[in-house]
Amino acid sequence: MCGIIGILGKNEVAPQLVEALRRLEYRGYDSAGIATVDGTTLDRRRAVGKLVNLSDVLVHDPLRGKIGIGHTRWATHGAATTLNAHPHRAGRVAVVHNGIIENFRELREELAADGYAPESQTDTEVVALLAARAMDRGASPRDAAFSTIDRLEGAFALAFLFDGEGDMMIGARKGSPLAVGHGEGEMFLGSDAIALAPFTNRITYLEEGDRVILTREGAEITDASGRRANRSLARIDVGATQIDKGGFRHFMAKEIAEQPAVLADALARYVPGGKLDMPLDFSGVERLTLVACGTAHYACHVAKYWFEQIARLPVEIDIASEFRYRDPVLTDRQWAIFVSQSGETADTLAALRHAAEKVGKTVAVVNVPTSSIAREVDVALPILAGVEVGVASTKAFSCQLLVLLMMALKAAHDRGIMNDAALQAHLDDLRALPGLMNQAMTTADPIRGLADDLAEAQDILFLGRGPIYPLALEGALKLKELSYIHAEGYASGELKHGPIALIDAHVPVIVLAPRDALFDKTVSNMQEVMARHGRVLLISDETGLREAGQDCWRTIRMPEVPSILAPLLYAVPAQLLAYHTAVAKGTDVDQPRNLAKSVTVE
Ligand code: G6P
Repeated sequence: MCGIIGILGKNEVAPQLVEALRRLEYRGYDSAGIATVDGTTLDRRRAVGKLVNLSDVLVHDPLRGKIGIGHTRWATHGAATTLNAHPHRAGRVAVVHNGIIENFRELREELAADGYAPESQTDTEVVALLAARAMDRGASPRDAAFSTIDRLEGAFALAFLFDGEGDMMIGARKGSPLAVGHGEGEMFLGSDAIALAPFTNRITYLEEGDRVILTREGAEITDASGRRANRSLARIDVGATQIDKGGFRHFMAKEIAEQPAVLADALARYVPGGKLDMPLDFSGVERLTLVACGTAHYACHVAKYWFEQIARLPVEIDIASEFRYRDPVLTDRQWAIFVSQSGETADTLAALRHAAEKVGKTVAVVNVPTSSIAREVDVALPILAGVEVGVASTKAFSCQLLVLLMMALKAAHDRGIMNDAALQAHLDDLRALPGLMNQAMTTADPIRGLADDLAEAQDILFLGRGPIYPLALEGALKLKELSYIHAEGYASGELKHGPIALIDAHVPVIVLAPRDALFDKTVSNMQEVMARHGRVLLISDETGLREAGQDCWRTIRMPEVPSILAPLLYAVPAQLLAYHTAVAKGTDVDQPRNLAKSVTVE
């Protein structure tokens, strides 16, 4: 979702701004723009679509200057047009914004009454207009920006640039992330460390309500109450912000292939020397609430099976955007667990804030350790997936699953449901996981061979049972978001209650079915599809395929796995099906239309 960069540099900043925006592309966007101050003159360039369009504009109409701001916009208020693209400018002020200004309608009316009419449909433009009006009334740039920020309701990360000010920009953070980068005689603002990595590894993460005045000499940060704030300086591991495709055609392909390695990293962290090491004691906990969005929500869905079956601990799962508005019953005898790759998803963050004072403990299962969610919970468990760039989450999903599985094992042991020997046996099974994931990668070839057929389908169904049911949901989500083919995931047993009406010879039905205790039941549901001429693709292990693979349209062979690990393993063919079908259709795999990686608006 929207990305922000600000640079007070020593050299021409336009190319640097575009480079930084390229590093923010992964968040998802549909237009982009930059503004600079050349000497004393503020100017901007904007373009719809990919950054290459902005670069083209800049080739024909360059922007000079050693100070500037830039933005990638994911449209919320107003279509993706040049007029709606950021930076927004009014009078002597240019502004870039990530978030939503909730009271923009009233502010727009108030401004219009004073003759400050907007030219765009965005919520953001009121920020520029408010600051411009304040400056017209005699305020300094600092006072204009600060009085503007005081008027704003909603969520925002903001950067202000001023005509006539070649050595000053202002940033503010409330609800959306913003970081300050410290260089040598240069200073930076950015939505995340990835954007700032080419310029500096010294970063200060702004806290909620912070404002910052940046000059080339440094940063003056004030907190929400207006007092000077000393925020710590972190040295980021630049290696951890590398974003290259490493020889793969797409980030998604690279990230799928990285799964054995990152899972091994997570195992090394949480099972050092073969012993489970997790900073949680589940003994007195009565119930868990797991909250997340998108793919992370499906990880929670799998975890519900694990916590209930392995640890006999009751679990509720919620979609974050529903959680707080349904006013859930929360007590201090339960814990709330928030699962998020980015740690910045606005709905998940809002759900955390809703639960924070009401539950016994808040826990995050999170990939970005410096994110808002990681910083606001009582205990943050990193999933150690490394930077994930593909909009569709892959390696973060499997690392989320692994950390949640290890939590379920810890809970079972802490609650006296599982003895030392049984725990150790499960941990021994876990050691085999990276190798098994490698074996699952061999499904890539047969899946590539199917992709052209799948790419022609109008509708595709995914079926699964038990802990594999959420994998059917995830497989369908991945396929629809990447290939734009309509896909639905169903619990196999639910098929006859509706979706069976869709079955005909044109609808591929993908059945995810390891040879486990529920296999025969799933096979019965599969027979119901075949009896109606449905085209079944059965994904199972050797035993499963021997028993039930005969009349299927196609089969894919998976390794035999301990059933506790099956959801992790079956994530691989689900991801590969979506990936290869999208490649066959020629869609934008890493940045599918309309989607964003880091969804920082509600
Ligand atoms: C977006 C992404 C998904 C992700 C979801 C939740 O929709 O496209 O891949 O699963 O947000 O994001 P989070 O960062 O909270 O895991």
